[in-house]
Amino acid sequence: MIRLEHVQKIYDDGFQALKNINLEFKEGEINVLIGPSGCGKTTTMKMLNRLIDYTEGQIYINNKEITSIDTIELRRSIGYVIQHIGLFPHMTIYNNVAAVPRLLKWDKERIEKRVDELLDMVGLEPEVYKNRYPSELSGGQQQRIGVIRALAAEPSIILMDEPFSALDPISREQLQDELVRLQKEIKKTIVFVTHDMDEALKIADQIILMKDGEIVQKGTPNEIVQYPANEFVKEFIGTERLGNNTTIPPVEAVMLNDADTLDLDSSLESAAQLMGEKNIHSLTVVDENNKIQGQVTILNASNSLQENKKVHDVLTPINHKVNKSSSLKTVLNIMNDNDVNELPVVDDSEQYVGMITRKEVLRVMTDLYMNDGNEGS
Ligand SMILES: Nc1ncnc2c1ncn2[C@@H]1O[C@H](COP(=O)(O)OP(=O)(O)O)[C@@H](O)[C@H]1O
Ligand SMILES: [Mg+2]
Repeated sequence: MIRLEHVQKIYDDGFQALKNINLEFKEGEINVLIGPSGCGKTTTMKMLNRLIDYTEGQIYINNKEITSIDTIELRRSIGYVIQHIGLFPHMTIYNNVAAVPRLLKWDKERIEKRVDELLDMVGLEPEVYKNRYPSELSGGQQQRIGVIRALAAEPSIILMDEPFSALDPISREQLQDELVRLQKEIKKTIVFVTHDMDEALKIADQIILMKDGEIVQKGTPNEIVQYPANEFVKEFIGTERLGNNTTIPPVEAVMLNDADTLDLDSSLESAAQLMGEKNIHSLTVVDENNKIQGQVTILNASNSLQENKKVHDVLTPINHKVNKSSSLKTVLNIMNDNDVNELPVVDDSEQYVGMITRKEVLRVMTDLYMNDGNEGS
């Protein structure tokens, strides 16, 4: 547990960046510091690993005042992730993640095991990614490496200063989801800085809203949304979000519900013709109860055209489908994990109701973010 008591920070030029900060960060919780640019978030965070010293007050980690802890030891027990991760560009992913364990002189076997475990944790296949260089990864993947690099030596505290701010909205959502999932396993004390209220509401156990070097309100996301302390908090939450944070529509609202299907005993000629007309490369096959039986691709159909076969002779299984009430985020995760661009949609009785495409999901999600008033940095 981390505790700040009556902490103040006056910079050398006389500017008072923090006024009487009293705070507690509990183990196993994600604590989010949020507020407008210049309110003192980064200053608060950097005092915890003593990148900045405080002028007044005390900071305790597990009841030990941090000025009494050796600085190097202190920093080793704290992982630190920043916006521009600063992976070492000339080093492989393996070497990047292994950097701190090496400093700590872990043996090779232990490091190898740890790197594999960490890559698995964030869904990056170790054999595929270990030997790549940072520039060979997407922004989201690089930031995942930044996160696991900070976790490598099993620190009990993780500081994250706007770690996802430079990412596109979709990667950002995915990393937020992953962080929440990861935290259920690792149960660290996480202090996370952001200026994005959506992000805070989504990941926080405790939100600390700051303004001009002071804490305006702290509480759970629900407490903040339901009982905003004053006009500033209300405004920061965004009036449209109060009492309503379901902005992302379900699959049902976005799917193509007039997508064509094939019957089991359709001829392959008609299947191929339909795909040609619609300029698509596969069609979903349903039985008389409208249940999905599989799919026929243009390739399968045209390979067997001469043989007078029917759809049921060449259909291949469909491995992934989604429910019409699933969220678009789920859909996108399934598409990404399985490298597919469209998925059939079923209702609660497993009957086929339509198709959803990646293009459409991205279009809707981008629109949502474009129209979502961002608070600026
Ligand atoms: N080294 C410094 N000297 C003087 N003022 C500083 C210094 N670092 C930050 N500040 C000021 O302290 C305030 C808080 O900064 P910071 O904690 O970085 O804000 P935030 O992270 O919330 O955007 C800002 O007004 C900033 O200009
Ligand atoms: Mg900052």
